[in-house]
Amino acid sequence: MNHTVLLLSLCAVQLVAGPPAKPVSDKSLGLSRTSVFEVPSPPAYQDEASAPGEKPLPKRINREFPPVIPHSLADCLPITRSSNLCMDCHAVPGPKKKGEPTPIPASHFVDLRRAPEAKGEQVAGARYVCISCHVPRTDAPPAVGSRYRG
Ligand code: HEC
Ligand code: HEC
Repeated sequence: MNHTVLLLSLCAVQLVAGPPAKPVSDKSLGLSRTSVFEVPSPPAYQDEASAPGEKPLPKRINREFPPVIPHSLADCLPITRSSNLCMDCHAVPGPKKKGEPTPIPASHFVDLRRAPEAKGEQVAGARYVCISCHVPRTDAPPAVGSRYRG
Protein backbone atom coordinates (compact mmCIF):
# COMPACT_ATOMS: atom_id res chain seq x y z
CA MET A 1 0.00 0.00 0.00
CA ASN A 2 2.66 2.44 1.09
CA HIS A 3 4.73 1.48 -1.94
CA THR A 4 1.87 2.28 -4.28
CA VAL A 5 1.47 5.75 -2.75
CA LEU A 6 5.20 6.39 -3.10
CA LEU A 7 5.20 5.20 -6.70
CA LEU A 8 2.19 7.35 -7.57
CA SER A 9 3.71 10.46 -6.05
CA LEU A 10 6.98 9.84 -7.87
CA CYS A 11 5.03 9.63 -11.14
CA ALA A 12 3.27 12.91 -10.28
CA VAL A 13 6.62 14.60 -9.66
CA GLN A 14 7.84 13.33 -13.03
CA LEU A 15 4.74 14.72 -14.76
CA VAL A 16 5.10 18.16 -13.19
CA ALA A 17 8.86 18.45 -13.67
CA GLY A 18 8.87 17.02 -17.21
CA PRO A 19 12.06 15.78 -18.85
CA PRO A 20 15.34 17.06 -17.39
CA ALA A 21 16.17 20.61 -18.66
CA LYS A 22 18.97 21.06 -21.19
CA PRO A 23 22.15 22.53 -19.69
CA VAL A 24 22.48 26.33 -20.09
CA SER A 25 25.72 27.44 -21.73
CA ASP A 26 27.90 29.53 -19.43
CA LYS A 27 28.03 32.14 -22.24
CA SER A 28 24.30 32.78 -22.24
CA LEU A 29 23.85 33.57 -18.56
CA GLY A 30 24.79 37.24 -18.51
CA LEU A 31 24.33 40.25 -20.79
CA SER A 32 27.99 40.42 -21.82
CA ARG A 33 27.88 37.20 -23.86
CA THR A 34 31.19 36.02 -22.53
CA SER A 35 31.66 33.09 -20.23
CA VAL A 36 30.69 33.74 -16.62
CA PHE A 37 34.14 32.37 -15.76
CA GLU A 38 35.82 35.29 -17.57
CA VAL A 39 36.20 38.82 -16.24
CA PRO A 40 35.32 40.91 -19.32
CA SER A 41 36.71 44.44 -19.43
CA PRO A 42 34.44 46.87 -21.32
CA PRO A 43 36.08 48.66 -24.27
CA ALA A 44 37.61 52.02 -23.36
CA TYR A 45 35.52 55.03 -24.37
CA GLN A 46 35.98 58.77 -24.65
CA ASP A 47 33.73 61.30 -22.99
CA GLU A 48 32.28 63.91 -25.32
CA ALA A 49 34.69 66.85 -25.48
CA SER A 50 32.76 69.34 -27.65
CA ALA A 51 31.57 72.63 -26.19
CA PRO A 52 27.81 73.20 -25.83
CA GLY A 53 26.29 74.08 -29.20
CA GLU A 54 29.43 73.12 -31.15
CA LYS A 55 28.02 69.93 -32.68
CA PRO A 56 24.56 69.29 -34.13
CA LEU A 57 22.11 67.68 -31.74
CA PRO A 58 21.80 63.90 -32.04
CA LYS A 59 18.47 62.60 -33.35
CA ARG A 60 15.91 61.94 -30.60
CA ILE A 61 14.36 58.48 -30.86
CA ASN A 62 11.41 59.37 -28.63
CA ARG A 63 10.30 62.81 -27.33
CA GLU A 64 9.37 61.23 -24.00
CA PHE A 65 12.87 59.95 -23.25
CA PRO A 66 15.37 62.28 -21.57
CA PRO A 67 17.63 63.53 -24.40
CA VAL A 68 21.30 62.64 -24.18
CA ILE A 69 23.54 65.52 -23.07
CA PRO A 70 25.29 66.19 -26.39
CA HIS A 71 28.18 68.30 -25.04
CA SER A 72 31.09 68.06 -22.61
CA LEU A 73 30.24 68.22 -18.91
CA ALA A 74 33.58 69.76 -17.98
CA ASP A 75 33.16 72.01 -14.91
CA CYS A 76 29.44 71.15 -14.60
CA LEU A 77 29.86 68.44 -11.99
CA PRO A 78 29.25 67.91 -9.20
CA ILE A 79 25.79 69.42 -9.05
CA THR A 80 25.41 70.79 -5.53
CA ARG A 81 22.82 72.78 -3.65
CA SER A 82 24.65 76.02 -4.35
CA SER A 83 25.90 75.24 -7.86
CA ASN A 84 24.00 73.86 -10.83
CA LEU A 85 25.66 75.00 -14.05
CA CYS A 86 23.16 73.01 -16.12
CA MET A 87 20.44 75.31 -14.84
CA ASP A 88 22.61 78.41 -15.30
CA CYS A 89 22.57 77.75 -19.05
CA HIS A 90 19.34 75.86 -19.59
CA ALA A 91 16.97 77.86 -17.37
CA VAL A 92 16.18 80.23 -20.23
CA PRO A 93 12.78 81.23 -21.54
CA GLY A 94 11.64 79.66 -24.80
CA PRO A 95 11.23 79.43 -27.66
CA LYS A 96 14.29 77.35 -28.48
CA LYS A 97 16.91 78.93 -30.71
CA LYS A 98 19.26 76.75 -32.73
CA GLY A 99 22.68 76.33 -31.10
CA GLU A 100 21.47 78.00 -27.89
CA PRO A 101 20.73 75.99 -24.70
CA THR A 102 17.43 74.14 -25.06
CA PRO A 103 15.03 75.66 -22.48
CA ILE A 104 14.18 73.34 -19.57
CA PRO A 105 10.73 71.98 -20.53
CA ALA A 106 7.55 72.83 -18.59
CA SER A 107 7.35 69.23 -17.31
CA HIS A 108 10.39 69.90 -15.09
CA PHE A 109 8.53 72.63 -13.17
CA VAL A 110 5.77 70.28 -12.04
CA ASP A 111 6.10 68.61 -8.65
CA LEU A 112 4.44 65.29 -9.45
CA ARG A 113 4.23 64.26 -5.79
CA ARG A 114 2.92 67.38 -4.08
CA ALA A 115 1.18 69.42 -6.78
CA PRO A 116 0.84 67.38 -9.95
CA GLU A 117 -1.68 69.82 -11.45
CA ALA A 118 0.35 73.02 -11.19
CA LYS A 119 3.43 74.37 -12.93
CA GLY A 120 5.73 75.69 -10.21
CA GLU A 121 8.01 78.72 -10.25
CA GLN A 122 11.16 76.61 -9.88
CA VAL A 123 12.47 73.36 -11.28
CA ALA A 124 10.96 70.58 -9.11
CA GLY A 125 13.31 69.04 -6.57
CA ALA A 126 13.10 65.63 -8.25
CA ARG A 127 14.49 67.21 -11.43
CA TYR A 128 17.31 69.15 -9.81
CA VAL A 129 20.04 66.53 -10.32
CA CYS A 130 19.87 66.55 -14.11
CA ILE A 131 22.31 63.69 -14.60
CA SER A 132 20.09 61.22 -12.75
CA CYS A 133 18.09 61.08 -16.00
CA HIS A 134 20.16 62.76 -18.73
CA VAL A 135 23.25 60.77 -19.64
CA PRO A 136 26.22 62.34 -21.37
CA ARG A 137 27.10 61.33 -24.91
CA THR A 138 30.19 59.13 -25.32
CA ASP A 139 31.68 57.16 -28.21
CA ALA A 140 31.06 53.87 -26.36
CA PRO A 141 29.51 51.20 -28.59
CA PRO A 142 26.17 49.93 -27.23
CA ALA A 143 26.78 47.15 -24.69
CA VAL A 144 23.78 45.24 -26.03
CA GLY A 145 21.82 45.66 -29.25
CA SER A 146 18.35 47.15 -29.43
CA ARG A 147 15.73 46.93 -32.15
CA TYR A 148 13.73 49.82 -30.64
CA ARG A 149 12.99 52.41 -33.33
CA GLY A 150 10.86 54.98 -31.52
C1 HEC B 1 27.59 76.76 -21.09
C2 HEC B 1 26.18 76.47 -21.21
C3 HEC B 1 25.71 75.05 -20.95
C4 HEC B 1 25.92 74.28 -19.82
C5 HEC B 1 26.74 74.61 -18.58
C6 HEC B 1 25.16 73.07 -20.03
N1 HEC B 1 24.53 73.09 -21.25
FE1 HEC B 1 23.41 71.61 -22.04
N2 HEC B 1 23.33 72.59 -23.82
C7 HEC B 1 23.86 73.84 -24.06
C8 HEC B 1 23.75 74.14 -25.48
C9 HEC B 1 24.23 75.42 -26.17
C10 HEC B 1 23.14 73.00 -26.08
C11 HEC B 1 22.91 72.76 -27.56
C12 HEC B 1 21.62 73.20 -28.10
C13 HEC B 1 21.61 73.06 -29.61
O1 HEC B 1 22.61 72.66 -30.21
O2 HEC B 1 20.58 73.39 -30.20
C14 HEC B 1 22.87 72.07 -25.00
C15 HEC B 1 22.20 70.86 -25.17
C16 HEC B 1 21.80 70.05 -24.11
C17 HEC B 1 20.86 68.96 -24.20
C18 HEC B 1 20.17 68.46 -25.46
C19 HEC B 1 18.85 69.16 -25.61
C20 HEC B 1 18.10 68.78 -26.86
O3 HEC B 1 17.36 69.65 -27.36
O4 HEC B 1 18.20 67.63 -27.32
C21 HEC B 1 20.71 68.44 -22.95
C22 HEC B 1 19.84 67.27 -22.53
C23 HEC B 1 21.56 69.20 -22.07
N3 HEC B 1 22.20 70.17 -22.80
C24 HEC B 1 21.66 68.98 -20.71
C25 HEC B 1 22.62 69.60 -19.91
C26 HEC B 1 22.93 69.19 -18.56
C27 HEC B 1 22.26 68.06 -17.82
C28 HEC B 1 23.91 70.02 -18.11
C29 HEC B 1 24.65 69.97 -16.79
C30 HEC B 1 25.34 68.73 -16.49
C31 HEC B 1 24.18 70.98 -19.18
N4 HEC B 1 23.39 70.68 -20.25
C32 HEC B 1 25.08 72.05 -19.08
C33 HEC B 1 24.43 74.68 -23.11
C34 HEC B 1 24.86 74.28 -21.86
C1 HEC C 1 13.47 62.61 -13.49
C2 HEC C 1 14.20 62.62 -14.75
C3 HEC C 1 14.75 63.95 -15.25
C4 HEC C 1 15.55 64.85 -14.57
C5 HEC C 1 16.10 64.76 -13.16
C6 HEC C 1 15.80 65.94 -15.50
N1 HEC C 1 15.18 65.67 -16.70
FE1 HEC C 1 15.28 66.83 -18.37
N2 HEC C 1 14.03 65.55 -19.34
C7 HEC C 1 13.53 64.38 -18.82
C8 HEC C 1 12.61 63.78 -19.77
C9 HEC C 1 11.85 62.48 -19.57
C10 HEC C 1 12.58 64.63 -20.90
C11 HEC C 1 11.75 64.47 -22.19
C12 HEC C 1 10.30 64.75 -21.92
C13 HEC C 1 10.04 66.19 -21.55
O1 HEC C 1 10.40 67.09 -22.31
O2 HEC C 1 9.53 66.38 -20.43
C14 HEC C 1 13.49 65.74 -20.59
C15 HEC C 1 13.75 66.78 -21.47
C16 HEC C 1 14.72 67.76 -21.23
C17 HEC C 1 15.16 68.75 -22.21
C18 HEC C 1 14.68 68.86 -23.66
C19 HEC C 1 13.51 69.78 -23.76
C20 HEC C 1 12.98 69.91 -25.18
O3 HEC C 1 12.37 70.95 -25.46
O4 HEC C 1 13.11 69.01 -25.99
C21 HEC C 1 16.09 69.54 -21.60
C22 HEC C 1 16.83 70.71 -22.20
C23 HEC C 1 16.22 69.06 -20.23
N3 HEC C 1 15.38 67.99 -20.04
C24 HEC C 1 17.07 69.60 -19.31
C25 HEC C 1 17.16 69.19 -17.99
C26 HEC C 1 17.96 69.87 -16.97
C27 HEC C 1 18.83 71.09 -17.21
C28 HEC C 1 17.79 69.16 -15.81
C29 HEC C 1 18.35 69.49 -14.44
C30 HEC C 1 17.98 70.80 -13.90
C31 HEC C 1 16.91 68.04 -16.11
N4 HEC C 1 16.54 68.12 -17.42
C32 HEC C 1 16.53 67.06 -15.18
C33 HEC C 1 13.82 63.84 -17.59
C34 HEC C 1 14.55 64.47 -16.60
